[in-house]
Amino acid sequence: MTRLTRADLDALPNYVPGRNVADLARELGIDEAIKLASNEVPFGPLPGVPEAIAEAVRSSHRYPDMGVAVLRDKLAERYGIDAERIVTGCGSVALAEHLAKATCLPGDEIVYAWRSFEAYPIIAAGVGATSVRVPNTGDHGHDLAAMAEAITDRTRLVIVCNPNNPTGTAVRKEELDRFLASVPSDVLVVLDEAYRELVTDPDVPDAIATYGDRHNVVVLRTMSKAWGLAGLRMGFLVAQPEVAAAIRKVLTPFSTSLVAQAAALAALTQEDEVKRRCALVVSERDRVTEALRKLSVPVPESQANFVWMPLGDKAAAFGAACEGRGVIVRAFQPDGVRVTIGTPEENDAFLAAAEHALDA
Ligand SMILES: Cc1ncc(COP(=O)(O)O)c(C=O)c1O
Repeated sequence: MTRLTRADLDALPNYVPGRNVADLARELGIDEAIKLASNEVPFGPLPGVPEAIAEAVRSSHRYPDMGVAVLRDKLAERYGIDAERIVTGCGSVALAEHLAKATCLPGDEIVYAWRSFEAYPIIAAGVGATSVRVPNTGDHGHDLAAMAEAITDRTRLVIVCNPNNPTGTAVRKEELDRFLASVPSDVLVVLDEAYRELVTDPDVPDAIATYGDRHNVVVLRTMSKAWGLAGLRMGFLVAQPEVAAAIRKVLTPFSTSLVAQAAALAALTQEDEVKRRCALVVSERDRVTEALRKLSVPVPESQANFVWMPLGDKAAAFGAACEGRGVIVRAFQPDGVRVTIGTPEENDAFLAAAEHALDA
């Protein structure tokens, strides 16, 4: 049959979402399975968000404001920057795609750490760019010196995931300062801070506040995690006005939905509650890390809402054993397993499953 789509996409892995809880519960014949596989914060929508959604739905026969003016103004006020520097999108992952589209032509290079967020290779391939993967250090963090070395005259984009998904490690200000000073001024550096609100190490910089004014830095943020809007898809980026304007040209029109805009506005009024929830996640993150270390798993310090178990080629078997006990985690064979921090009860169920799986 005549081929209708690009042959190079055959080699591209599919994005793997966390497994469906209802399917697993049915398979195991249990009431409820636990999903700790998609880095969601477990406490439900923030107060006021369901009501804002219900109200917005009444206007859902209309297109949303394509300029997202009210929400961008609120974000500008919250982060202390000009609204023209903010672009919103259908999750920050869509904005990463738009960034690749706005910077890369086929054959250009995108440098990123590996292992890191599994969408990066897909985003690079989508625009025909070459992925340049720089292996993480032995401590599972970005090797920024090697990433700087990997930049060539074909490099258009370098992505630093801070904290890194899936290892939870974070790069600190001193290293980042040195790295940014070494990147050529015509290469765009994307600082992907999807988990920023969970960072507790004071030496890990807030990139909007610290590097937002640099002309070749773009900061990606999401409202999917700490702000509890994963299902509504609302991310944003902060860039210099010319870069933001170029990205707006390649945006899918109306991709920040009417409901997402209303929900984000309601969520932004709940910052104290966001902080309270993040503190709960952080205290559970420390508890789960300690418990796993007691089981002899060398879990690196996490600055996000998940922990990394460097189990090597035992990752898939560990993941399957946890699923057998009703807990879905995310195995990345042959490197390790990422476990999202859930409620204390969910984490207890996971730790019980982990003890059993590690013994097996
Ligand atoms: C590092 C990183 N960046 C971006 C995203 C995408 O978030 P969203 O598209 O939901 O805003 C994720 C989600 O898992 C992530 O881990």
